[in-house]
Amino acid sequence: MTLKDQFEQLKKDAEAELAFLKDEKTWEHVRTEYLGRKGKLADLMKELKSAAEQEKPFLGEMANRAKRELTDAFEKARRNVTGKRNEHAAFDVTLPGATFSTGHEHPLTTMQSEVADIFRSLNFSVVEGVELEDEWHNFEALNIPSTHPARDIQDTFFVKGDAGEKGRRVMRTHTSNMQIRVMETYTPPIRAVVIGRVFRNEATDASHQHSFHQVEGFVVDEHISIANLVHTLQAMLSGVFQKQVTVRLRPSYFPFVEPGFELDFACVNCNGRGCSVCKRSGWVEMLGCGMIHPNVFKAVGYPRGTYTGFAFGMGLERLAMMRYGIDDIRHFLGGDIRFLQQF
Ligand code: PHE
Repeated sequence: MTLKDQFEQLKKDAEAELAFLKDEKTWEHVRTEYLGRKGKLADLMKELKSAAEQEKPFLGEMANRAKRELTDAFEKARRNVTGKRNEHAAFDVTLPGATFSTGHEHPLTTMQSEVADIFRSLNFSVVEGVELEDEWHNFEALNIPSTHPARDIQDTFFVKGDAGEKGRRVMRTHTSNMQIRVMETYTPPIRAVVIGRVFRNEATDASHQHSFHQVEGFVVDEHISIANLVHTLQAMLSGVFQKQVTVRLRPSYFPFVEPGFELDFACVNCNGRGCSVCKRSGWVEMLGCGMIHPNVFKAVGYPRGTYTGFAFGMGLERLAMMRYGIDDIRHFLGGDIRFLQQF
């Protein structure tokens, strides 16, 4: 066998042995046998000396390569063996398990499904609705005349394009558009809640964003009264805050309700004693509501004087901020993982 073949053979032998290694101890043993000072490789190297002078550079290079390859093969085998050993070692049940983290719901999503569940338990249907709206559904049918300041370019995002039969296209400024769309489609009794995104061309600060979410609820039937409104909202807030919540109404104005109210609830943080959350007043302003205006029923073609109903609209972010103690609305869309990981 030529010296070259002997080197080849050595490599093959070593590889064959390495393939069957089971533990680090045998690995060490085999390594000494091949790579040790008095090992097989060293023996072969010695024979280089007696090779013909003109062959020496070539053989030397080959020997060095064989040594490199062998060393690599042993290193690889060692990694295999140590890995294998862990795999087959006695299983220590007291070791902590391998943990991996998965993502989780955004706090707004959680809030949204909780609110939806509460309303479902009160027998409401949950609907979503359109975000790109026309002026008629967003304003006109809700008794908001074209002269109303809410229509102002300052507040409303108008979408480019020609005005249609129902006016220009707008990004809905509130979820109240869905009062109209639902009432257009269904006849009472209606119990519906809409949770979705709304858009306002406003400057951003700790409590304002150009897009946010509203929860809109409305009930239409014969003999619906303010008492039904109060009870429903109290039940909803008690569900969200997991305790009995006290509410109060203050007169307010929205074109699509009459009478219209602002609903406050007794601060859940201090139980009405006064704290920083309720600005020491003991009450927190929560939402706008009222009894649906007859002009709204007229717009959707309901017969006159047959139905009454209530409606309310509130900010989902505001609710989540109260619930989780979040101080800045911009966190929700900020995408900061440190914020999100807290939920
Ligand atoms: N749409 C009103 C708003 O965006 C809230 C509201 C809804 C008020 C329903 C009364 C009844 O501010």
